[in-house]
Amino acid sequence: MQYYIITGASRGLGKALAEAVLSYPDTKVLGVSRHATIEHDRYQHQPLDLSDMEALQNNITKIFPAWSDADSITLINNAGVLGEIAYVGEQTNEHYNFVFDVNLVAPAMLMNTFLSAYSSLNVPRTVLNISSGAAQRPVDGWGAYCASKAALEMLSQVAQKEQDLRGSGIRIRALAPGVVDTGMQEQIRGADEQSFSEAERFKALHQDDMLAASDEVAKRILNWLSNSPSEKVVARIDTI
Ligand SMILES: NC(=O)c1ccc[n+]([C@@H]2O[C@H](COP(=O)([O-])OP(=O)(O)OC[C@H]3O[C@@H](n4cnc5c(N)ncnc54)[C@H](OP(=O)(O)O)[C@@H]3O)[C@@H](O)[C@H]2O)c1
Repeated sequence: MQYYIITGASRGLGKALAEAVLSYPDTKVLGVSRHATIEHDRYQHQPLDLSDMEALQNNITKIFPAWSDADSITLINNAGVLGEIAYVGEQTNEHYNFVFDVNLVAPAMLMNTFLSAYSSLNVPRTVLNISSGAAQRPVDGWGAYCASKAALEMLSQVAQKEQDLRGSGIRIRALAPGVVDTGMQEQIRGADEQSFSEAERFKALHQDDMLAASDEVAKRILNWLSNSPSEKVVARIDTI
């Protein structure tokens, strides 16, 4: 059985990834998010708020069971938030906790627990951290989002280096999925120019039908993962 743990599986790219995985035989998905929206006999849901660190600590072992029939195990850290779009200095301080917890601290804890829980297995193991082009360029109004994704990319590179030094064979990748037609893009289009100078550009991308469909992006990502992605740890969808 090929096992996938996917955070943010209730909608957007995470749901598309879960459904794409389930379209193949011999797969099982454990989805982690606040809401459960997938009904499938090979889907199991772990309700969890990834901004609630206490809940995460209390439930984290449930996410990584000992699967004795595993032929492979993949963790996809997909859940992510932009938080309120506003300039640094015009934000609440709590915003930084919220965005960093969901986008960085929770994925780091999940990756850490995955590596520790499955280190002695001999089957292929992969961690895919969903990043963003915003990890590599400053976007006004998205400070915490950009910084959290940049940190997630570096953490992925460090973790891969460590796994290579250990000779574990575990693959860690970070992938920016491009501009995908999801609820996050709706939020971006709703931002005002005062807090986000690129608002008009993102509205135009939508009007001009330039957003990628989440199911297409999901298929491309799974195809890339199954065809042994290159040694490069950080990748962008247009280069895979
Ligand atoms: N869409 C794009 O254009 C784009 C571009 C670059 C990168 N990305 C990245 O792609 C990933 C998926 O984004 P998306 O566009 O699919 O976003 P989305 O449509 O807003 O979906 C976000 C997912 O994350 C989950 N989530 C949010 N807050 C959570 C929390 N506190 N606890 C647990 N789960 C939580 C949501 O589930 P619940 O609400 O049920 O909890 C939902 O399933 C994110 O990492 C995002 O940064 C997206």
